[in-house]
Amino acid sequence: MVVRADVRAFYDEFLESRMVQYRLFGNRRIELAARRIEPYIHRDHRVLDVGCGIGIVTERIAARARRGRVWGIDLSPRNVWYAAHTVRKSNVSFFTADVLGEGEQIRAQTGGAFDVITMVDVIEHIPEADRPALFASLRALSAPNAMLVLTYPSPQYQRWLQANRPQELQIIDNVVELPALLDETGAAGYGLRHYSLEDVWMRNQYAHCVLQTDEAVATPARAERSLGQEIGQRVQRATRNAFLVPWRRWRFVTRVLNEEQRESPRAVDP
Ligand SMILES: C[S@@+](CC[C@H](N)C(=O)[O-])C[C@H]1O[C@@H](n2cnc3c(N)ncnc32)[C@H](O)[C@@H]1O
Repeated sequence: MVVRADVRAFYDEFLESRMVQYRLFGNRRIELAARRIEPYIHRDHRVLDVGCGIGIVTERIAARARRGRVWGIDLSPRNVWYAAHTVRKSNVSFFTADVLGEGEQIRAQTGGAFDVITMVDVIEHIPEADRPALFASLRALSAPNAMLVLTYPSPQYQRWLQANRPQELQIIDNVVELPALLDETGAAGYGLRHYSLEDVWMRNQYAHCVLQTDEAVATPARAERSLGQEIGQRVQRATRNAFLVPWRRWRFVTRVLNEEQRESPRAVDP
C-alpha cells in the first residue's frame, strides 16, 4: 500500500520534472480538459478544482466564473505554492488539502455548496478502495444540481501504458473502468450526463466523464440560459422566420405541391 506522505513527495517533485513544462509549451490534454469544463461554468458559480496541480485549469475556470469563486486544492504543498504564485486572479484561492478524508476542512475553508467540482487527471491517482467515500464526500460538498467533471486516461490507454511504457505510470495509477465508476458515483447520488473518448496524442487516449446530481439528471427542465444567450437565440429565431422559413416554404411546400398539381392534377371542388 502506498502511504500519503510518499504520494505527496512524488507530486512535490513532479512540479519541476513535468508540470512546469505545461506552462512553457502548453499541453493538449489540459487544453481539451479545460474546453470540456468551460461550458458548465457560469459567471457566478462556486467551483472546486480537486488535484489542481499548478492551477492551469483552475485559472481557466476562474476566467469564466468572473462573479463567482474558485478554489484549487492539492495534496502537494509545493504545487499549491507554485499555483498561488503564478495564478493571479481575485476570485481564486489555493490551499493544501487531501481530498480523501479532509472534506470537513475543505467545507470549513470554502463554505462548500459547489456548483461544479472538477478532477483533471486525478481520479486514476486515487486508491480504488477510497473512491466510493470520495464521491460521497464530494456530493456532500455540492450544491443541488451540481456537476462533477472527471477527465482521466482511458482504460485502453492505461492498459497500453502498463504493457508498453510502465515507467510513465505515476505512483498510484489505476485503470478507471466506466461500469465501476458509474456504480460508485451512482451510489453517491450522481447520474451520467456525458461520456466520451478523446484523441489527445493518441486515438481514444482520454476519457471525459460529466456527472450531475441525481435530482437534476432525473427531471427534465428548461436549460438555464444567460441573458446574452437568450437575446442571441431570439435574434436567430427572428432572422430564421424572416428569411429562411419563407425560402424553405417555397422550396419544400409551394414548389413541390405545384409540381404535383401539374403532374397529376387533383380534382378541385366545384
Ligand atoms: C497528474 S496530477 C494532475 C494535476 C492537474 N490537475 C493537471 O491536470 O495538470 C495529479 C494531481 O492530483 C493531486 N492529488 C493526488 N491525490 C490527491 C489527494 N488525495 N488529494 C488532493 N490532491 C491529490 C496530486 O498532488 C497532483 O497534483
